[in-house]
Amino acid sequence: MFPVTRMRRMRSDERIRSMFRETSVDISDFIYPLYIKESTENGNPEEISTMPGQYRYSVDDAVDFAGLLEDDGLTSVILFGIPDYKDEKASSAYDKNGIIQQTIKALKEQTNLVVLGDVCMCEYTDHGHCGIIKDNYVQNDETLKYLSKIAVSYADAGVDVVAPSDMMDGRVGAIREALDKNDYINTPIFSYAAKYASTYYAPFRDAADSTPSFGDRKSYQMDPANFNEAIREVALDVQEGTDAIIVKPALAYLDVLREVKQTFKMPTIAYQVSGEYSMIQAGIEKGYITEDLLYETLLSIKRAGADMIISYFVPQLLGIE
Ligand code: PBG
Ligand code: ZN
Repeated sequence: MFPVTRMRRMRSDERIRSMFRETSVDISDFIYPLYIKESTENGNPEEISTMPGQYRYSVDDAVDFAGLLEDDGLTSVILFGIPDYKDEKASSAYDKNGIIQQTIKALKEQTNLVVLGDVCMCEYTDHGHCGIIKDNYVQNDETLKYLSKIAVSYADAGVDVVAPSDMMDGRVGAIREALDKNDYINTPIFSYAAKYASTYYAPFRDAADSTPSFGDRKSYQMDPANFNEAIREVALDVQEGTDAIIVKPALAYLDVLREVKQTFKMPTIAYQVSGEYSMIQAGIEKGYITEDLLYETLLSIKRAGADMIISYFVPQLLGIE
C-alpha cells in the first residue's frame, strides 16, 4: 500500500517503462488491404475520395506498391476487386482471367507476400448484395455454390489464403469441401466469423462501388447490439474448419475480440475497417487529434487479443505516403 507501493515509480523512466511494456505493434502484425480495379482512369491509381491516402490500383501498380511495402517489412495483403462487368451471378468473381485472379498470379510471381483473397460477391453483383437474390432476399444455400466457385478459382490462381466475408450460414464448410475436392487441402480459410452490419463500411462501399441497390445487409451481417451471437457464429466457423477468425470492425468491438480470443484460442485477426481509417484521418487532417491516435487504436486492438490486424494505416506506419 501507499506510500510503500508507488505505481509511478516504474513510470518515471522511459527505459524502464519500455522494459515492461506489455503490448507492442510491429509491421509484421499487419495485413494490408489492396483495391484492384480493372479500368482505372488513364491507368493511374485513383485516390478514394472517402479514404484520403488510399487508392484503387491497376494490377501492375498494385504489385509495385505491395512490393514497396514488402521491402519495408510487410508480410501479407488482402485483395478486393473492382471489375468492369457486374451481373446478378457475380460472374467476374470466378472468371479465370478476373481482376483478382490476375493480381494473385502477379503477386505470387513478383513478391513473397502471403496473399489473401477476400471471397464475396458484392463487388461483382449488379445489385451489390453478397449473394444470389430471389424475391428480394439473399438465398443462403444457392449462394454457397458461388462462394465455393470463387474460392476454388482463387486457389487455381495460386492464392495463399481465402477469406470469406459474406456471412452466409455454412460457407466455411462448403468452401472447405470445395477446396478439398480440388486438392487444395493446404489452402487455409480465414473466415470473417463475427462480422457486424456496420456503418463503418461506408467508405469501403464507395471505394469498391458495392453499395446494395436496395435494402441493406442486416439479413446476413450481425446486429451490432449482439455479443452472445458472435460467440455462436465463431463456434460454428471453428466447427466447420476455419483456420483463423476475423472480427470486424475492430475498435467498437474490442469486447467481442477479447472474448473470441480467450474462448477459442484461435489465430485471431481484427479488421480495422474503412470508416475507422477515415475517421482518424479526418481528425488528423482537421487538427483535432494527432497521429498518435492511430498508434493508440492499433495498440488497443493488439491488447484486446488480436494476433494480426488488417489495416489501411500500413503505408503511414512505414512513412510511405
Ligand atoms: C465484402 C466486404 C466488405 C468489407 C470487407 N469485405 C464490405 C461490406 O460487407 O459491406 C468492409 C471493409 C472495410 O470497410 O474496410 N463483403
Ligand atoms: Zn460482400
